[in-house]
Amino acid sequence: MQTRGHTLSNGKVLIVRDATPDDASSIITFLEAMSAESDNLTFGPGEFGYSEAHERAFIRDCETADNRLFLVAFIDDAFIGMVTFTGGDRPRLRHSGEIGLVVSKAHWDKGIGSILLDSVVQWAHGGGAVTKLNLRVRTDHARAVALYESKGFRIEGTITRALRIRGGYFDHYWMGMEI
Ligand SMILES: CC(C)(COP(=O)(O)OP(=O)(O)OC[C@H]1O[C@@H](n2cnc3c(N)ncnc32)[C@H](O)[C@@H]1OP(=O)(O)O)[C@@H](O)C(=O)NCCC(=O)NCCS
Repeated sequence: MQTRGHTLSNGKVLIVRDATPDDASSIITFLEAMSAESDNLTFGPGEFGYSEAHERAFIRDCETADNRLFLVAFIDDAFIGMVTFTGGDRPRLRHSGEIGLVVSKAHWDKGIGSILLDSVVQWAHGGGAVTKLNLRVRTDHARAVALYESKGFRIEGTITRALRIRGGYFDHYWMGMEI
């Protein structure tokens, strides 16, 4: 398990490490809290829908597969963010996959999303198995789109009516970066 410390501009130290199966319960609790903080995720409160056993299996998969990554982030031992990269299963899809990124609202705009994204890009450059990073983001999520563009992701297309939230539709951009 790799652990890295990053000193933020406010002097706090962000600890980023690989998730382990024992993080499964904390991850579910964290995502449940995050689902109530914004409407930018693909699930709302009570809708995450994966059991602890499922989450443990997913983390184990990330520990062993060369095209999967699951990083968790802490400040003062509090779980404040995570990023995943899920590569495809079939030979023709293994080289590409999708990023999922979440930072707790109390810690937005401190550069944490940027650090977590950089970690995924560095991992992809170092491994050789992954040559394309994709992500989906709401077209009206200006801060996230700006963050991804600042890292070199480009908008590759738009999915209309990607999300339906309380009766309203929202479009997604597919964004991507070649490694
Ligand atoms: C999107 C998210 C991951 C960003 O995390 P973060 O830790 O706040 O990101 P950072 O602090 O590294 O960077 C935010 C950047 O957006 C910029 N920004 C903020 N508001 C902005 C706006 N309205 N327009 C353009 N840029 C904006 C900031 O200036 C910062 O850029 P900088 O690094 O050049 O200063 C975080 O807001 C989040 O988890 N949101 C909820 C879940 C989510 O939306 N996940 C992504 C789904 S695709």
